[in-house]
Amino acid sequence: MKAMQIARRGGAFEPVERPTPEPAAGQVLLKVEACGVCHGEDVAIHGHWPGLSYPIIPGHEIIGTIERLGDGVGGFHVGQRVGVGWSGGGDKVTGLTVDGGYAERAVAAAAALVAIPDGIAPLEAAPLMCAGVTTFSALRASKARMGDLVAIQGIGGLGHLAIQFARKAGMRTVAISRGAQKEALARDLGAHSFIDADAEDVGRALAALGGAKVVLATAPSATAISAAVSGLVRDGEVVVVAGGADKLDLAPMQLLRRVGIRGWVGDGVPDIVDTLRFSVLTDVRPRVEPFPLAQANEAYTRMLAASVRFRALLVPA
Ligand SMILES: NC(=O)c1ccc[n+]([C@@H]2O[C@H](COP(=O)([O-])OP(=O)(O)OC[C@H]3O[C@@H](n4cnc5c(N)ncnc54)[C@H](OP(=O)(O)O)[C@@H]3O)[C@@H](O)[C@H]2O)c1
Ligand SMILES: [Zn+2]
Repeated sequence: MKAMQIARRGGAFEPVERPTPEPAAGQVLLKVEACGVCHGEDVAIHGHWPGLSYPIIPGHEIIGTIERLGDGVGGFHVGQRVGVGWSGGGDKVTGLTVDGGYAERAVAAAAALVAIPDGIAPLEAAPLMCAGVTTFSALRASKARMGDLVAIQGIGGLGHLAIQFARKAGMRTVAISRGAQKEALARDLGAHSFIDADAEDVGRALAALGGAKVVLATAPSATAISAAVSGLVRDGEVVVVAGGADKLDLAPMQLLRRVGIRGWVGDGVPDIVDTLRFSVLTDVRPRVEPFPLAQANEAYTRMLAASVRFRALLVPA
């Protein structure tokens, strides 16, 4: 099978021919239909994860059909369309400690599989496996309730889904982006208001709108996240799903309005099932740009430049 692998820490994605893997007991073999390109791939590239060894095939937003069942797999059948996210079953991480979906075939633990409902196309389901479940579950677990002002910071793979989830959940939805290029698209996705972080002070702009109950930070920038804290109402919170190693810049005084800042990670089959159900029910759909498998580097570079609208997908020929 053809795959794109990372051969060493810091390396690019490189094409490789591999033998088609055998599904062991409790696993299935998937024919990959699409795999999303997540910013979280930077963890696989930079190599800071226990249990990660090279070469590794990245990719943790996999949609495929089952080609073979390993021994003891129940509840799934050959030909069925399924998805796999970050959680690879047990303590495994898809595309990080086990090979992922940047390939024509992938094996996955049955425990990590989610059945894909008929109401959603495979290319639209893929981003829900990570970007979708992360933002859906983060918003659902946040302090935001119907009618509250929720700001989504960063309009990429995660952010463009978060705007739709917030809007469909009945929240007053504000999109925050660098520059005005994405304003029309953000409003089209459901944002009631738009803040250009290059032109305005984000904290002041949020305060002028009445203050945010929740800021969902998807932009991997400590500076951007720090700037949002002053835009919270009393008892509001910044929920950080973005990665990054830079230090936040916050004065303790800023927290005394009883505001909070906390992180969130989206994973696990039950939350993916709920994300799919909500998306089908309310017509939340990712906007995707498909790329051939061989163009993984182009797709990833375009994502880093924030020029993908809004999730790049690798689609094996
Ligand atoms: N916690 C979890 O479970 C989880 C799951 C998946 C991903 N992640 C992390 O979430 C983050 C977003 O992932 P993604 O796949 O949505 O990435 P993405 O498609 O690259 O989107 C991130 C967006 O943030 C903004 N941005 C990027 N760099 C920025 C910078 N230096 N300063 C300010 N804004 C910046 C851009 O939006 P604008 O152009 O609108 O400014 C960009 O489109 C990544 O850090 C990823 O590792 C976490
Ligand atoms: Zn991801």
